[in-house]
Amino acid sequence: MRALLIVAGLLIALVLPAQRVSALSTDGAQLFDLHCAGCHPNGGNIIRRGRSLKLKDLSKRGLDNPEAIATIAREGIGQMSGYGDALGEGNEIVVGDWVWLQAQNAWTQG
Ligand code: HEC
Repeated sequence: MRALLIVAGLLIALVLPAQRVSALSTDGAQLFDLHCAGCHPNGGNIIRRGRSLKLKDLSKRGLDNPEAIATIAREGIGQMSGYGDALGEGNEIVVGDWVWLQAQNAWTQG
C-alpha cells in the first residue's frame, strides 16, 4: 500500500510539471484563436471590413511588419481596444509574429 502511494506520488510529480509547461508555451495560433479570431476570423475583420489582417490592408497603413501588429495587439487601434493584459506579457510579440506570417501566406495555413 505504502509502495503504491509512493509510486502514485512520483507519477503525479512527473505529470504535473509537464502539464504546466504545455499550458505556458501557448503558441501564436492558440493566442490568435483565443483573443483575436472572434473579430478577425481567417484574418478578416467583421467590424470594419477594410481593416483586415491581410497583407493588402496592412500595407495601406504601414502595418506590414510584426512589430506594428504586436503593438496593436497590445495597445489597440481606433475602434479596437488593446489586449496586452489578456494576452499576457510578451505574448503580443508571439501573436504579432504569427499574424505577420499568416499575412505573408495570404492566410492559407490556418
Ligand atoms: C472586439 C473585436 C476585435 C478583437 C477581439 C481584435 N480586434 Fe483587431 N481590430 C478590430 C477593429 C474594429 C479594427 C479596426 C480598428 C480601426 O482602425 O478603427 C482592428 C484592427 C486591427 C489591426 C489593423 C488592421 C488594418 O488593416 O488596419 C490589426 C493588426 C489587428 N486589429 C490585430 C488584432 C490582434 C492581433 C488581435 C488579438 C490580440 C485583435 N486584433 C483582436 C477589432 C478587434
